[in-house]
Amino acid sequence: DIAQSFFKPIEKSSPPTPLNGHVKITIVGAGNVGMAIAQTILTQDLVDELVLLDANPEKLRGEVLDLQHAAAFLPRTTILAATDYAATAGSGLCIITAGARQSPGESRLNLMQRNVALFRGIVPPLAKWSPEAVLMVVSNPVDVLTYVAWKLSGFPSNRIIGSGTNLDSSRFRFLIADHLDVNAQDVQAYIVGEHGDSSVALWSSISVGGVPVLSFLERQQIPYELETLEQIRKEVVQSAYEVISLKGYTSWAIGYSVAGLARTILRDQRRIHPVSVLAKGFYGIENGDVFLSLPAQLGRSGVLGVTNVHLTEEESRRLQESAETIMEVQSQLGI
Ligand code: NAD
Ligand code: LAC
Repeated sequence: DIAQSFFKPIEKSSPPTPLNGHVKITIVGAGNVGMAIAQTILTQDLVDELVLLDANPEKLRGEVLDLQHAAAFLPRTTILAATDYAATAGSGLCIITAGARQSPGESRLNLMQRNVALFRGIVPPLAKWSPEAVLMVVSNPVDVLTYVAWKLSGFPSNRIIGSGTNLDSSRFRFLIADHLDVNAQDVQAYIVGEHGDSSVALWSSISVGGVPVLSFLERQQIPYELETLEQIRKEVVQSAYEVISLKGYTSWAIGYSVAGLARTILRDQRRIHPVSVLAKGFYGIENGDVFLSLPAQLGRSGVLGVTNVHLTEEESRRLQESAETIMEVQSQLGI
């Protein structure tokens, strides 16, 4: 039917996580990113219980107390500090933000070995205590670590998601909106592929208020500057480097990005987000198991399917190259 031609459903799908009326989220890593996600989730009245787990008990206790002290201003939520995975039992969604982050100028892929080592101690106990959870990876390099989380958890691929280019796409929409002087929420535009240097801008997918931008400009014979478009794409890739060189880390935008994904999943919103999913079988990616971002429909059982966006030849080629970049790094993993 029409829904089937619009979405290609994910092959092996497991049923939705039973929440039994009690919605519990675990966030592993109470650093800049974990705390930005936690505070955004709390303001959304999304969960009954929020568990924060970190390797540094003092910092964790301080962060949790600080959040608990906002109780009078927030929807009622139980917030727990945990250093033991038993406290995470029965979570519907587990979000991993623990690990090393980039120094100014350092690439995300450079973090791989350090963060894979941490994941070996994080993913198996999470999976053991919340065997029916959706696992969401945020730590970098996010696509490779999403693959690692899939392998270490033994979960079906529909319940493994990387936050991916949901953030890059927001940066893209912000820059396009700024250029056209419109509201970013009215700009539809996707960045797919690696969350990182080889990400791919889908120019053909951009629309503003339902008007496809490139074909509109062509039809009106308005010359658009390829250079401006290329500049915007480069700015998206440079965004994180710029923020990291200015403030040392990125946090607010990823906080909103992941809280939005949590809402879609826990409230079964079936919205489409560009996130990192097992890409094999989609868009001509056939060789090997690779996670990268594609526009995916999300709901209570995680990834429901992937949208059939029409890609130009150039976009397809860039997506393949992005997949190859990730696979090359992945081949050094030994997992
Ligand atoms: P941070 O240093 O502020 O926090 C990391 C936290 O992880 C620390 O609190 C640390 O104690 C904790 N930790 C380390 N090892 C742990 C373990 N084994 N178990 C539990 N906790 C552990 O770093 P940050 O700025 O919050 O960044 C965290 C990660 O998120 C980095 O890898 C960064 O690159 C990534 N990141 C990803 C995106 C994205 O879009 N995917 C965006 C921003 C940051
Ligand atoms: C980002 C991180 C650093 O903000 O991946 O893009």
